[in-house]
This record gives sequence, C-alpha cells and structure tokens, in this order.
Amino acid sequence: MKTYVLIGGSYGIGADVAKLLNSEGNKVVVYSRSIGNLSDYTNLIWYPYDALLGAPDIENVSEGIDGLVYLPGSINLKPFHRTTTKDFLDDFQLNFLGAVSAIQAFLPKLKQNHGSIVLMSTVAVSLGLPFHASISASKAAIEGLSKSLAAELAPNIRVNVVAPSLTDTPLAEKLLSSPEKKDAASKRHPLNIYGKSIDIAEAIVFLLKSQFTTGQVLHIDGGISTLKV
Ligand SMILES: NC(=O)c1ccc[n+]([C@@H]2O[C@H](COP(=O)([O-])OP(=O)(O)OC[C@H]3O[C@@H](n4cnc5c(N)ncnc54)[C@H](OP(=O)(O)O)[C@@H]3O)[C@@H](O)[C@H]2O)c1
Repeated sequence: MKTYVLIGGSYGIGADVAKLLNSEGNKVVVYSRSIGNLSDYTNLIWYPYDALLGAPDIENVSEGIDGLVYLPGSINLKPFHRTTTKDFLDDFQLNFLGAVSAIQAFLPKLKQNHGSIVLMSTVAVSLGLPFHASISASKAAIEGLSKSLAAELAPNIRVNVVAPSLTDTPLAEKLLSSPEKKDAASKRHPLNIYGKSIDIAEAIVFLLKSQFTTGQVLHIDGGISTLKV
C-alpha cells in the first residue's frame, strides 16, 4: 500500500484523484478547508487546512509518502488594465507559493519513498488567452518551478505538471453555467468537448506512478493548445 498526499481533494479534480488512488487500495491523505464527500471512503484521512495560512502540518503523516499533488487554484479573469497588484499577488500566493510551502514541508517524506510530485498548470500558459494575465503568470511560475525541481531532485524524486483546458468542476462553474456556455466551450476544442474532472485525474495518477517520466508538462486539453482544425 502506498501513501499519497493531496493538498485540495475535497471536490473537483482532486476528489477524483482521491477516488482513483483509494480504489487501488492506497492510503490517501487530503488537506483542504472542507471535507466534501471524503468521509465515504475507507483508508482516506482528511485534515482541515488552508493553503493561504502557511505550511501543512506534516506530523499528521507518520510515514514516508509516495506522491504529493497540489490542487488549489483560481480562475480570476480580468482585462489587464483592471488587474491590480493585489490580484497578481493573491493568484501567486494560492497557485504558486502554496505549492512551494507544501513541497518544502513534505520533501523529507517524499525523499524517504522516492516519491513523485504533480503540480497543476493551465492551457493558458502555452496558449495566449485574453484576460488570463494573472493566472497565466502564476501557472507559468509553476511550470518553471517544476522544471528546476525535476532537475534538482533527480534521480530520487520526479516532478511533473498537468496543464488542463476548461474542465467541469466547481472552480469553472461560472464558465459552464448554461447550455449555451457549455456548447461554446465544447466547440472551442478540436475534440468538441470540454474536460471532465476524471480526464485530468487520470493524467495526474499516471504521472504519480510513471517511473520514467519527469520534468514534463502534460497537456490534457482536448487538443486546444496544439491543433487547429
Ligand atoms: N477546472 C478547470 O477548468 C481548470 C483549468 C485549468 C487548470 N485548472 C487547475 O487545476 C487545479 C484543480 O482545479 P479544480 O477545477 O479541481 O478546482 P476546484 O474545483 O476549485 O477544487 C480545488 C480543491 O482545492 C481545495 N482548495 C482550494 N483552495 C484551498 C485552500 N486555500 N487551501 C486548501 N485547499 C484549497 C478545494 O477544497 P476546499 O475548498 O475544501 O479547501 C478543492 O478540494 C487548480 O490548480 C486549477 O488552477 C483547472
């Protein structure tokens, strides 16, 4: 049995990661502000935690860990001229510095088990999208961090990133809140669909387990970042 730590996992993509890992008989430890439906699972432990308030308490996990996923993120879309310094700092704090804190806290436990780190980016880093300046900058920092860490921590620890396009989760609720918005979102993607949380969760679980993959950004985006059809 392996042990995986998820920062964020009470709903959205992280909840599907928790479900997949748990169904394979792993121990899953989730840190998030709310418990969601996690009490339905056996061998899943939840600790209340707010990533904006400092590092997670690693004393909650006594053993070495096989993987760490940092899921908290934001979608604050604004014209650049209305995006304040505070907007940039808030996005950077939640998307980037929260991940740095979690990695630094769990690094000794990841080293114990030759673990794997998976971080979350967005399609908006490789595909220029209007109104995404703040989130795109924060997630570009995540991609830069992951490349550097993948080199620094090899061969013991693997570090990879998943970069999704629009995926149906509570975070993206406003962007998919009507049949018209759903239809338009589907049509923007070469595969004519938008993402489901399980699509992204499967990619995260692959990266947690793959022994020969590090320093990669895996684009799970219906083809939107690379294809014109
Ligand atoms: N959905 C998309 O369209 C999309 C597209 C591109 C990239 N992404 C990225 O994918 C990742 C997951 O997205 P998602 O759509 O699953 O998001 P979500 O629906 O908002 O779920 C986020 C998870 O993180 C937790 N979380 C949020 N803020 C937290 C905080 N301050 N401290 C601790 N936990 C916190 C939430 O639980 P609590 O509220 O209980 O704390 C929840 O479990 C994000 O990094 C996002 O930027 C998503």
